[in-house]
Amino acid sequence: MRTQVAIIGAGPAGLLLSHLLERRGIDAVVLESRDRAHCERRQRAGMLEQGTVDVLRAAGAGERLDREGLTHHGLELRFGGAGHRIALSELTGGRTVTIYAQTEIVKDLIALSPEGRIRFEAEVLEVDPASPRVTYRENGVLRTLDCDLVAGCDGFHGVSRAAVPRAKVFERDYPFAWLGVLADVPPSTEELVYCHHDRGFALHSLRSPEVSRLYLQVSPDEELAAWPDERIWSELRTRFATRDGWTLKDGPIREKAITPMRSFVTEPMRHDNLFLAGDAAHIVPPTGAKGLNLAVSDVTALASAIAARYEEGSSALLDGYSSARLRRVWRAEHFSYWMTTLLHTDHSADAFARRLQLSHLEYVVSSKAAATTLAENYVGFAHDGP
Ligand code: APR
Ligand code: PHB
Repeated sequence: MRTQVAIIGAGPAGLLLSHLLERRGIDAVVLESRDRAHCERRQRAGMLEQGTVDVLRAAGAGERLDREGLTHHGLELRFGGAGHRIALSELTGGRTVTIYAQTEIVKDLIALSPEGRIRFEAEVLEVDPASPRVTYRENGVLRTLDCDLVAGCDGFHGVSRAAVPRAKVFERDYPFAWLGVLADVPPSTEELVYCHHDRGFALHSLRSPEVSRLYLQVSPDEELAAWPDERIWSELRTRFATRDGWTLKDGPIREKAITPMRSFVTEPMRHDNLFLAGDAAHIVPPTGAKGLNLAVSDVTALASAIAARYEEGSSALLDGYSSARLRRVWRAEHFSYWMTTLLHTDHSADAFARRLQLSHLEYVVSSKAAATTLAENYVGFAHDGP
């Protein structure tokens, strides 16, 4: 088989890249190891930067997002039993963020894809960036896909990153993980609450007027079995408690999972005809929800670069892809690390470090300059559109 662009992975990165290329009349095949139901079920973050919404809308993939997405103009930082609003829109010249689950974006993009363009249950085993060629297994048979370019959108556990020789890896593990729950209960807040507490961080997010998404900082070796629903609600109530008696509504928990936190970047993001995008090239801890937004930003730039090659015969954007992306990646890496260390409780930290952290939190909520730094990074920077 032959195509112009072989895309590995049908996560948000691979699916959006396929869609953006299709709109430019560029042929692509998406190879995905899992089945469709699995891809459409995975629960992940759900906060979209303004630039991400703009890209999806401009690509004709924003119809349900516009109908069901919840636009937010601010967020709350809560610590010491009191909440402090960060006025995101006011501080950023009117920019907003939108709550819309990543799984819904995946469903929308799969539904928009022409029959046969995505091949589910097709596991890539080998990537040859020079030929270029991808070897995969479908229905137990080994096949090859020849192409002009390969897009490695196969996430953190994929195979394409290993096809970049002499790559440099930068990483950081954190002594925290997130226990995330999806609960059938109306949110107790209109805006997201990022809460710092001595017992650990907690986040109140939402999915709809009827569904809440909540997270608790736990230790990375924590077992899910140790967290029956009542313990989760009780711990959430303790961490979110305010001096003015705010109450947390509870209800049936539909799903729960523990996710480790890490920062990871591989450089460069290109070798020969292979281009990495999304989690295949970088991971951020979830505080600030940059993972999906960064993946969208990568493939938006990659689609423009690929289009320039086919439409204008110019490889300049492809040649500059890795260094341009890495500048944006490192901004998101720094912000995600910063939000994580600002808000989580490191139980091994000494008293001096704890005092510094509280001073930092107070500074962010009392200085317009500091709040603006948080706000402009949180709402994100414009993506390099196609
Ligand atoms: N062959 C084919 N497909 C593969 C292979 C392989 N060898 N290895 C992995 N995949 C598929 C996975 O099954 C998955 O569907 O690649 C896809 C990668 O998707 P994601 O992990 O969602 O990565 P990405 O599209 O980059 O999305 C980034 O996901 O982890 C979150 O926070 C992150 O929101 C961000 C987003
Ligand atoms: C989510 O809604 O899942 C979410 C929101 C904000 C974050 C992380 C996750 O920072």
